[in-house]
Amino acid sequence: TVVVADTGDIEAIRAFKPTDCTTNPSLILKAAQMPAYAGLVDEAVNWGRRQGSGADAVSAIADRLAITFGAELSKIVPGRVSTEVDADLSFDTQASVAKARGIIKAYEERGVSRDRILIKIASTWEGIRAAEILQAEGIDCNLTLLFSLVQAAAAAEAKAFLISPFVGRILDWHAKAENRTFTAEEDPGVLSVRKIYSYYKRHGYGTVVMGASFRNIGEIEALAGCDRLTIAPALLQELAADEGTLARKLDPETAGRSGDERVA
Ligand code: E4P
Repeated sequence: TVVVADTGDIEAIRAFKPTDCTTNPSLILKAAQMPAYAGLVDEAVNWGRRQGSGADAVSAIADRLAITFGAELSKIVPGRVSTEVDADLSFDTQASVAKARGIIKAYEERGVSRDRILIKIASTWEGIRAAEILQAEGIDCNLTLLFSLVQAAAAAEAKAFLISPFVGRILDWHAKAENRTFTAEEDPGVLSVRKIYSYYKRHGYGTVVMGASFRNIGEIEALAGCDRLTIAPALLQELAADEGTLARKLDPETAGRSGDERVA
């Protein structure tokens, strides 16, 4: 399992040394509020103000921050940085494609090559179509907000580079609707990712499965063996502290499972 950090916090990435990292606008906003990154924020604000005023400036600042942080993160992780296309474009294929091309261009202007970036797009029908267009022109995508096998099958058929099936949000819904708790082995979010992983491997799809949206380390350990897992720093910390190294925890053999009992 490749460990991915779900954060825009540059120091956390330095501390946990993940292969990849995933960001979204709220993670970037959270990181931008840390005093250590005031310089990066000032640069983005000054640049945004020069692009316009009011909502236009705010949007330009948010875009600039995502690229500024992403470019810094790309210097630290050896693999990919996921940068998200705005959620309000989730039902507009052409606008998502245009935005993604703009993100790639901004990275390339900073010397970050496109093969270090994943464009994160919501797994709506329109988002999956956008990913299909982008993949065909050599821009790799991370289809996020993915909650079902149906979305996963459509993403694989669109030749998406990677999907992010969510675990915790599925657990949240079931826990609330059924007013109960779940062990990791019966966790409906974990079972959803296992079903998707097993379907992909059975049908030989090349799309990478990266479990996301974790609520506890039990869920993460239950998915040891998955292609990649993106994990928030607080849970990375817990995993590292909880008897043994991160790598051992995420190895299905040492986690005590084998064969069909792995993620599949
Ligand atoms: C990953 O790509 C997502 O940004 C993240 O895991 C979502 O987690 P949440 O359900 O806690 O918002």
